[in-house]
Amino acid sequence: VTTSLVATSDRMKGLLDRLTSMSVEDYYNPYRMFDWPDELPEQMWWMTPSLMTVYDTAVGKELSTEQLQAVSKYESINFYSLNVHGIRELLIEVTKRIHTADFREVSEFFHHFIGEENEHMWFFAEFCLRYGPKIYRQPRGGAETIPPNNAESLLVFARILIFEELVDYFNSKMALDKQLHETIRQLNRIHHQDESRHIAFGRELISLLFTGFRAHATSQELTQINDYIKRYMIFSFESLFNPQVYRDAGLDEPLKIRNRLLADPRRSRFEQLAFRKILSFLSRIGMIEDEKLTIEENFS
Ligand SMILES: [Fe+2]
Ligand SMILES: [Fe+2]
Repeated sequence: VTTSLVATSDRMKGLLDRLTSMSVEDYYNPYRMFDWPDELPEQMWWMTPSLMTVYDTAVGKELSTEQLQAVSKYESINFYSLNVHGIRELLIEVTKRIHTADFREVSEFFHHFIGEENEHMWFFAEFCLRYGPKIYRQPRGGAETIPPNNAESLLVFARILIFEELVDYFNSKMALDKQLHETIRQLNRIHHQDESRHIAFGRELISLLFTGFRAHATSQELTQINDYIKRYMIFSFESLFNPQVYRDAGLDEPLKIRNRLLADPRRSRFEQLAFRKILSFLSRIGMIEDEKLTIEENFS
């Protein structure tokens, strides 16, 4: 490939200029930014209740406030742990591409992106290690062999965007939730600010990459893209339901709890809500067929 994958769009160039100068103007020192209290109180909400996997479910109704708050603590550690793992993986992919011909036009932006994500990975890990005190293990699966093989970069950046939009759904709500400790709100607020730039970039990049891909794609390849994207979303969503969280919160039969929660009618409402914006974006550009995430249909 002699021309850059993303060289042709004036809109992208304008966006890159704006986002890059915002990154420079808003630059902050994350290592000085946060107030890290020695400990956070156990008897409080560590996560916005409506963002918890047990919220409005049959399982949740069986739990006391104390138990729910324990779940909120470990669910928040799980959420930031997923961020640590997700960021490490996206850094690997962006770093691989930063000075290739295909991404020449965006390499300057990638430098800011990599720097910012490294800092995010640091503050999320710091939170987990201080207050967990641990980082949960990475869930297995999620990035299996990618079909069709000429869509590798398209799907890598689609995964990054899906991950960032899912996280941002949580961050933007928790940043505003007055029930939460100021350290937790601050973590979510700062991440949300940086991610709004990454998401704006990611959407523009996906639009360009997908337009290029679709020009030569067969209908079978487009179906493969649709299925891959939806499988990845479902996998990402299900990784929020970590049996180790329920065990750490002192609940019996953690695997059974996970399965009950995944089968609860609230699950699909929560899933559709968490992915509402990205589903609507991907279906608008034609990368997925519709905005429904239904496991049975996609795995048939
Ligand atoms: Fe981030
Ligand atoms: Fe990001």
